[in-house]
Amino acid sequence: MALTDADLTRIAEAVDEDRLWRMHMEMAAFGATPKGGVCREALTPEDVQARLLLAKWAAELNCDVSVDAIGNMFIRRPGTDPDADPVATGSHLDSQPTGGKFDGAYGVLAGIEMLHALDAAGVTTTRPIEVINFTNEEGGRFQPGVMGSQVFIRPDELERMLNVVGADGVVLKDALAVYRAEAGDIGEKPLNTPYAGFLEAHIEQAPKLEETGNTIGVVTGIQGSRKYLVTVTGEEAHSGTMPMRRRKDAVLAASNMVVGLHRLMEDPVDLTRFNVGRFQAYPGAPSVVPGEVRFSIDFRCPDDGLREALGGQISGLCQALAGPCAVDVQEIQRSETTPFDPAVMESVRKAAARAGAPSMDLLSGAGHDARNMARICPTGMVFVPCKDGISHNEAESATAPDLAAGARVVAQTVAEMAG
Ligand code: GLV
Ligand code: MN
Ligand code: MN
Repeated sequence: MALTDADLTRIAEAVDEDRLWRMHMEMAAFGATPKGGVCREALTPEDVQARLLLAKWAAELNCDVSVDAIGNMFIRRPGTDPDADPVATGSHLDSQPTGGKFDGAYGVLAGIEMLHALDAAGVTTTRPIEVINFTNEEGGRFQPGVMGSQVFIRPDELERMLNVVGADGVVLKDALAVYRAEAGDIGEKPLNTPYAGFLEAHIEQAPKLEETGNTIGVVTGIQGSRKYLVTVTGEEAHSGTMPMRRRKDAVLAASNMVVGLHRLMEDPVDLTRFNVGRFQAYPGAPSVVPGEVRFSIDFRCPDDGLREALGGQISGLCQALAGPCAVDVQEIQRSETTPFDPAVMESVRKAAARAGAPSMDLLSGAGHDARNMARICPTGMVFVPCKDGISHNEAESATAPDLAAGARVVAQTVAEMAG
């Protein structure tokens, strides 16, 4: 049944800015850091606490919660046709180690606020509506990121991901078992079930909305990326005795690679994004010439041709700069630039106009679970501003009115898609 403009306006008006803000502050208590941010990496005790609170809120809304084999949580509001494929919204409750209160949590909590608004507006949809909390979007503890949605659409990846060893030495499936034990009696959801649509709300994580005075970003797609793990092997030696010319210093070789790669990625148009965010030397003792370095590469670029060409040079350049050391380059994740569904974008634009929120189209530089969901159903994203564009930082900040404006857009768009 198609909802009228008046129905959609009523749903938008039922979004409660204060409740949405309170939910953010309550969630931010799990893993709160002294600098006002959040450290809630995937499947840590803090993330488990956040998941349990989310399930409690779902129960208060009379919604069922189920979990799939990688730990993604699905909160379901029934529709009048139980056999119809659901429409979903959501994001992730896990954070970076020095993350903020909004990256990820916002998309989940905007979904919970949408469920409250639908109840308050007395709206029943034909299709079921789901709010999803995806496992391990950030990929700081367990690499790679956007893991939950990747496994959801690619069940053949499940075994590999369950056996990923975290930066703290914990195997993902053991951390997941702890959550499953805490979650108690909870429904099982199969992987790769069909959806009629997916919409993810997120803070922008860049300054365009703020700079242009817009409240809503209609996201046109997500730029493609390539992620690598590089292992440089040298030879441990006494730092006071081994002559410099005979050393196989893994830090020196790896440093040359990092500098060389940054030069390779220099781009006058400022399209490419290149980051070595983790650089670990072993054994990590001041008087031992380092015998091994492992570093991460996060390389993104919206131009598929340029990304392919530059990405294709990474391994060769590392080999050329290895000096007396050996180097192994593993590509652990790769995604194409993903365009979002034009009909979903149009629905988001109209919802923003109905809610009186100025909007603009923009491409996402950050990765999101929506990138994976776009492979199985019509998908879009809604961005709201964050202060100075700062994110992946404890200082990350957003305002209650902006968050509520985004939630109004989510509630209307999802309701419209669910009919
Ligand atoms: C998600 O935070 C990403 O890596 O873009
Ligand atoms: Mn995020
Ligand atoms: Mn993030």
